[in-house]
Amino acid sequence: MSSDLIAFTASLPKAELHVHIEGTLEPELMFALAKRNRIDIPFKTVEAVRAAYQFTRLQDFLDIYYEGAKVLQTEEDFRDLARAYFNRAVADNVRHAEIFFDPQAHTARGVPFGVVMKGLLAAMEGAERAYGLSSKLILCFLRHLDQDDAFATLRDAEPWREKIVAVGLDSSEMGHPPSKFARVFAAAGSMGFKRVAHAGEEGPPEYVREALDLLKVHRLDHGNRSLEDADLTARLARTAMTLTVCPLSNLKLCVVKDLKSHPLPEMLAQGLRATINSDDPAYFGGYINDNYAAMAKASRLDRAAFVMLARNSFLGSFLPEAEVTKYLEVLDAYVARQA
Ligand code: HPA
Ligand code: ZN
Repeated sequence: MSSDLIAFTASLPKAELHVHIEGTLEPELMFALAKRNRIDIPFKTVEAVRAAYQFTRLQDFLDIYYEGAKVLQTEEDFRDLARAYFNRAVADNVRHAEIFFDPQAHTARGVPFGVVMKGLLAAMEGAERAYGLSSKLILCFLRHLDQDDAFATLRDAEPWREKIVAVGLDSSEMGHPPSKFARVFAAAGSMGFKRVAHAGEEGPPEYVREALDLLKVHRLDHGNRSLEDADLTARLARTAMTLTVCPLSNLKLCVVKDLKSHPLPEMLAQGLRATINSDDPAYFGGYINDNYAAMAKASRLDRAAFVMLARNSFLGSFLPEAEVTKYLEVLDAYVARQA
């Protein structure tokens, strides 16, 4: 592996399809917002916050992630959070981003749904104006809460229907299978929302099947454990289902032992439409290009594989076909110049 390959992946035009905006909250901004909003946080320094980011499983991370999100109170806070993410994304040659947000983590604390929306939309419009970076919002239901709570959130989203492309499912996977949310996903579908779900990060292949059959997802978030089931893998390949894979997240949450044994190369070998994403970059040690670089270092994936991964990111997006074509042309032109 050479630094050439890393530089090549860094400059590839790409889309990011799996990033939780609350997971982009860097400790510095956490402190600044805590001060601005006069909120106590259980850390004395930025270094102490970073030192606390040692996880052995998803739940360890989630506990600290919801704690951190409490500093987000006003429209300006959400705008500043998303603006900081877009500045990082543009530096990584992200041309389009589809961003998860967790409204229940905020409405449960008394922050109105509209405050979250207005802040995020302001940053999204700013990124489009300043950088030509397009973006879309995906509303995630927290799966550790019950379906009635998700329905209440779907009602909150109704006035914002045109500003949200899809609904998703995140938070504690084990013990909270997709079947728990079948009715609310059906309701969201009839309102015109596309559907995605985290499945097979820690949960078994059965959860992936439920996401496909009961939630009727257009995309699978993570999906790593699908590979344990050959029939399921073949089905995902046949249907060109996009998997939004997050290598550094998998490493930090001990979903994989090390990146050398990460399933991404195997996914591509099996014909799966895999993509590379950052998940919660402020917590997991890197943004999207750090994830590309980590896989370039740890695996035998070559330039063609990384071009395929970038290509998949546009193909798997919820952009209209003409926009996808436009981005693929930009990607092809970039690759042709490197030849
Ligand atoms: N998995 C599940 N839920 C989440 C994650 C994740 O990686 N990040 C934020 N919510
Ligand atoms: Zn995620």
